[in-house]
This record gives sequence, C-alpha cells and structure tokens, in this order.
Amino acid sequence: MACTGTSRLCVRACQWRKCSITKKNYSFFSDSSSSFFQTIKKREKCHQSTVIPAIATVSRNYSTSGTYQTGPMSNYEVQPYTLLENDLKDVYTYIRGSLRQNTHLDDLYEISTYYFDGKGKAIRPMIALMMAKAMNYHIHKEDIPLLPSQREVGMISEMIHTASLIHDDVIDQSDSRRGKPSVNVMWNQKKVTMAGDYILAVASMLIAKLRNNDVTLVLSQVVNDLVQGEFMQLGSKESENERFDHYLNKTYKKTASLMANSIKAVTILAGADEELCNLSFAYGKNLGLGFQLVDDLLDFVASSAAMGKPTAADLKLGLATAPVLFACEKFPELNPMIMRRFQEPGDVERAFELVHKSDGLEQTKYLAKKYCEESFRLAQTLTESPYQKGLIVTADYVLKRMK
Ligand code: FPP
Ligand code: MG
Repeated sequence: MACTGTSRLCVRACQWRKCSITKKNYSFFSDSSSSFFQTIKKREKCHQSTVIPAIATVSRNYSTSGTYQTGPMSNYEVQPYTLLENDLKDVYTYIRGSLRQNTHLDDLYEISTYYFDGKGKAIRPMIALMMAKAMNYHIHKEDIPLLPSQREVGMISEMIHTASLIHDDVIDQSDSRRGKPSVNVMWNQKKVTMAGDYILAVASMLIAKLRNNDVTLVLSQVVNDLVQGEFMQLGSKESENERFDHYLNKTYKKTASLMANSIKAVTILAGADEELCNLSFAYGKNLGLGFQLVDDLLDFVASSAAMGKPTAADLKLGLATAPVLFACEKFPELNPMIMRRFQEPGDVERAFELVHKSDGLEQTKYLAKKYCEESFRLAQTLTESPYQKGLIVTADYVLKRMK
C-alpha cells in the first residue's frame, strides 16, 4: 500500500521534504544571505553585458530541435536529450581534452578517462544545461544561447561526479559499472585513487577559470557534501527516527547536492536574483532526492543486466536504504540486521525477502514521486519555453525509470 501519510517514517520523510522546500527554509541548504546575492547581482550585471552576445529581439521560436507537434506549447512533447543534442554532444570530448592537456602521463590520462567513454547518460550536464537555457529564457524572454561559463559548469558537474564514482568504486570494491568492469578492476587501487584526484584537480582549475567567487563557493560545497555524504554512509543510527533523517541527509549530500548546486551555479551565471537561484536549487534538490530514491528502489527490483551492476548491492555493502527503513515498520527484526550492517550469514537474503513482503517498495515509490512532483511544480513556475518544458519532462523521466 502506498504511503497515506499515516506511516510514521513516511510522515517524517514528508516533513523533511516540506521543511526543505518551503520558501522560508530554502536557506537550510543554501548560503543565500542577501549580501551574498547582492554581490552576485552586481557582478552578473557586468558579466552579462560583456558575455551574452547581443541578440536582436526575436519572437518565441518553438521549432527548436527536440520539440515536435504543432499547436499550443502545452501540447508539445519535448525530448530533453534531443533538445540539447548540440549542446551535449561535445561534453565528453571537452572533458577528455582537458584531462589530456593537464598531464603527460599516459596511464593517468587513460585511467581518468575510462568512464568518459560517451556511454554514460550525462544526466547531470543535461539537467544543468536545461536549467541554464530555461533560466536564460525566463530572464530575457527569448532563446539566448548558453554562456560558455554555463556550458563549463555542465562539464564540471560530470567531472566531479565521475571523480566521486572512481573513489566510490575503490571504497566499495566494485566489480562493474555501466556494463563494463569497474575502474578498480582494471588498474591498481593506488593509481585509480589518484586518477580520481586528478579529475577533481582539473575540475578545480576549470572552476577557478570561471572567475566567479560565488560559483566557486557553490561548486566547492558540492565536493564537501560528497565527502560528508560518503562518510555519513559509513555509520548507522540506533533510533529508527534518527535513521531516516540520517538517510535523507546523506542522500542529499551524496546525490542531490551536485544536481542542486550545479543548477544553482548556471542560474547565478544567468544573472538571476536570489529567488530564482533558490528556485533552481530547490528544483535540483528535489530531483536529486527523487532520483536517488528511485535508484535505491531499483536495487531491489531491477535485474543486474538492466542496471549494469549487481542488484541488492546496497544490502551487500551493509547499507539500509529507504525500502529497508520503511520495511522495518512492519518487520522490526530488520533493526538488529541494520545495526550489524547485514554482516551475518543469511542477513542479506532475509532482509531482501522482508522488503519484498513489506510495503517498503511502495512507500519508497511514493516518496520519490512526491519529490519529483515538487520539481515538476517548481519548473512550471518558470516562463514557458522548450527548456522549461524540458525540466518538467526530466522530472517525469526520473520517475519513469522505476516503471
Ligand atoms: C556512488 O554511490 C557514490 C557517490 C554518489 C559519491 C561518492 C563520494 C565519495 C567517494 C567522496 C569523494 C568525493 C570526491 C569528489 C572525490 P553508490 O555506491 O551508492 O552508487 P553506485 O551503485 O553507483 O556505486
Ligand atoms: Mg558504489
């Protein structure tokens, strides 16, 4: 049965969601002090006048590639990856190029580019560039090309993400990722760890080259959050209530912060005001939380082949994700298993079975849906454009992964 709002954990989860999305509480996750944003506004005014090319006022053009059907905007179907095809097609080439430029060590280059093989979904650059275009349209009421700095943020977000995955594969001693042997299987761990550091180092140089202190702060926050989130995952909380908060907080830091802050960075670069920066941050945060909940759900229901990595992997790693935490309500015998991180023989199999017997999967789905719906709602408040529609469709894509 889906969460009706009566389940104790679901109520807590929904409270957490509300607390983090109401306007008053935007600041819980963002450093949106007014002086911070005044500085941005001043700087961006100057930035815009020099960087945004002067484009003659044009009427709204909905014949952009990636949209089809004629008729009113509300009837248009937008395919995010097609819509941004031109903007996304070179992301991996640029990343590989910047990693080539900064080292003469061939094996460092080879290891650090192993995951930049063009086969990833590039969901983070896609979302960042979609928000950039939607914000540019919202602010200027016309189709403004991406700023070079916004394009760079899309690329940087993928580099930070991949650096963290490389470190994660070493920590998790992973076997496979995206349907191929994971990087730690291919090369020795010391070299692999440094290849992750190298990607992060080059990403940091690219951030510095943007010469925008506020964007630097926002993107540095992502790296800190990733480390905090990964560290938080190493510990469990004794009390059930604390455990869910801990899980959501960890999920924000490990997954949602990168989406929220990259989106916020491109919005800052668009010259947006504080309210718009908060809106885009909240869109990314909700989308990121929904995305991770779907991922945690798929770990219980999808086949290994579909995921490109083994399933029930989280339990095997000792991790209690949302489906298990919800299942605890019906099956308290899961509590000691969570505390010992499913280490005793038979724990993983028993926990897997109990999750399937409980309504933990339904509750997780329900919560993911709530987060995605909030992203959906926030995107609807922006000026109608193919890119705004792309943001709406993206929230839907995240949900469709679990169908
Ligand atoms: C995937 O987790 C891992 C992350 C999203 C972040 C990992 C973060 C670190 C290792 C901290 C260091 C950060 C940097 C930037 C170097 P997962 O194991 O749940 O997902 P998976 O199934 O895809 O491996
Ligand atoms: Mg992992």
